[in-house]
Amino acid sequence: MNSRTLGPIMALFSTAAALTATSNVLYKTFYPASINSTGWYTNISPGSFNDSIYQADTYSSATNAPYGTYDYCSMPHPRADVYKLPEPVANKSVRAELVYLQYIQRHQRRTSYNSLPGGENQPYDCDNVEAFLYASPNGGLPQPQPMQVFGKTYTDPSNPFAANYVKSTCQLPQITVGGVLDGFQHGKDLWSVYGEKLGFLPPAPNSKTWFRSSESVLTQQSAGGVLRGIWPYHTGPVPLHQQPEAIDTTNESFDCDRRMTVLQEIENTTEWQAHLEAAAPLFISLSWASQNESDFTFSFNSFADNFQARLCNGYNLPCNVKNLSQCATMAQAQEIFRGGDWEWTYWYRTNPQAKLYTQTVEGPFIAEIIQRLQAVQNGTSKIIYEHDFLHDNDIGPIAGALGITALRWPGMGSNIALELWKVQGSSIFARVLYSGQPMVTIYGTLDWIPLSQLIQILQPYAPKDIVQICNS
Ligand SMILES: *[C@@H]1O[C@H](CO)[C@@H](O)[C@H](O)[C@H]1NC(C)=O
Ligand SMILES: *[C@@H]1O[C@H](CO)[C@@H](O)[C@H](O)[C@H]1NC(C)=O
Ligand SMILES: *[C@@H]1O[C@H](CO)[C@@H](O)[C@H](O)[C@H]1NC(C)=O
Ligand SMILES: *[C@@H]1O[C@H](CO)[C@@H](O)[C@H](O)[C@H]1NC(C)=O
Ligand SMILES: *[C@@H]1O[C@H](CO)[C@@H](O)[C@H](O)[C@H]1NC(C)=O
Ligand SMILES: *[C@@H]1O[C@H](CO)[C@@H](O)[C@H](O)[C@H]1NC(C)=O
Ligand SMILES: *[C@@H]1O[C@H](CO)[C@@H](O)[C@H](O)[C@H]1NC(C)=O
Ligand SMILES: *[C@@H]1O[C@H](CO)[C@@H](O)[C@H](O)[C@H]1NC(C)=O
Repeated sequence: MNSRTLGPIMALFSTAAALTATSNVLYKTFYPASINSTGWYTNISPGSFNDSIYQADTYSSATNAPYGTYDYCSMPHPRADVYKLPEPVANKSVRAELVYLQYIQRHQRRTSYNSLPGGENQPYDCDNVEAFLYASPNGGLPQPQPMQVFGKTYTDPSNPFAANYVKSTCQLPQITVGGVLDGFQHGKDLWSVYGEKLGFLPPAPNSKTWFRSSESVLTQQSAGGVLRGIWPYHTGPVPLHQQPEAIDTTNESFDCDRRMTVLQEIENTTEWQAHLEAAAPLFISLSWASQNESDFTFSFNSFADNFQARLCNGYNLPCNVKNLSQCATMAQAQEIFRGGDWEWTYWYRTNPQAKLYTQTVEGPFIAEIIQRLQAVQNGTSKIIYEHDFLHDNDIGPIAGALGITALRWPGMGSNIALELWKVQGSSIFARVLYSGQPMVTIYGTLDWIPLSQLIQILQPYAPKDIVQICNS
């Protein structure tokens, strides 16, 4: 279970191609606005999503795929050997200095949120991770320090509710050991660019650095890994800012009735219904897993989540607990992933209410981003580096607000880097990297635009009257 041979999707890549091509696969879309034929899922030729990666070993996510390949388990991120300066800086037509970096990322890979209603045939193993949890009096108070307790999940056989529950040593959806290790690498790669190459990050976290997570343990666990990768030798605690769960502006935590109703409207359109009708044969073929429960058939989300978590952490696709020779196939998984990609583009880009939906999901956090940018613009920012550890449902709407041309499901560790460059004798310019590369948007490639323009792009998604909108 801990190591498996990687399937055909991975075998496609030759070592020779590694690191040369900067693929545009992050932005690929092959779908029309409406998917109304089963063919869109089964026929790989228009999508050819087989140049993407959906598998990783338990302990490693290294692949030979070219940099920039869409890798759901470990999305590309800035890395010194492939990092390019903004064009006008590289060709020395301007002299500019990086003055602010806001790095927003999804947590690293994890177990699933959604267990199959039909039952799970493989337990998740988290004995290889120690999920620490303890509170300590702050520095000024008397010792001793607390015991370093960690969470160790088990299932008591006498628990009357355990019979139909997958016995596992994980709290779903906790981070996996592969997620923690990927976090170290992600942080190390960020240091290679923003520490070593650009000399921008300080040698240790200080008053100019600021970290934030959602209220979810998963993002906090991710932060520990990534920050250690950035600063391998730093000792001592580091604050990870969080908003109170009831009003957190990330992870859809704040109350917003309109968010629910607009989503219902979006998923009640002919386009949405058509994509589900086209998926009916696929969902029926997997009904042993879903038991036809609507959680698994009103969207591709639950199946995709269940399959991704298995494939990204060294497990096999699930089998029917009542007939272990009936298993989900890689072809079915790929159809599920294609449907999932379509849904992300539909939610945040192509449906007529995408703007309103984005406001109700992410508006308040986008407003916080704008404030940060404005503070840099007017020279009052005390922070030079903010790093936010969030979710796919934060990355998606922010990318949508930035006008990304095609949004595929933001994979594990997917990231948006907002770089602000102060040009000598001129104003501040912005660059937006999406998973390591300048973001391709309806406004063009965001490689070098005036900061004021970036703020203008984001502003409509952060309405001042969001509380009224939410209550409307
Ligand atoms: C199916 O989608 C295509 C392409 O978007 C569209 O031209 C066609 O009218 C749709 N057909 C139906 C029956 O909705
Ligand atoms: C990937 O897709 C291409 C064309 O879309 C096809 O020729 C190739 O056989 C596919 N490879 C796999 C491993 O499915
Ligand atoms: C440098 O790059 C910018 C942006 O691509 C371009 O407009 C400019 O002409 C280039 N200058 C030189 C000297 O190559
Ligand atoms: C974060 O969002 C997910 C849905 O994406 C939800 O299931 C989860 O409960 C949220 N986390 C917390 C701690 O509320
Ligand atoms: C869905 O759309 C139908 C037809 O347009 C409408 O009658 C129904 O009220 C809608 N349901 C919701 C929940 O919006
Ligand atoms: C799910 O629905 C399909 C189509 O109605 C049916 O053939 C199948 O038996 C159902 N499966 C389960 C497990 O309910
Ligand atoms: C178990 O699944 C296999 C593969 O789908 C199928 O051929 C077989 O008939 C099933 N066995 C039973 C008892 O349903
Ligand atoms: C600078 O921007 C911040 C954030 O938007 C704002 O709070 C502050 O009032 C601004 N200061 C000046 C001097 O404009």
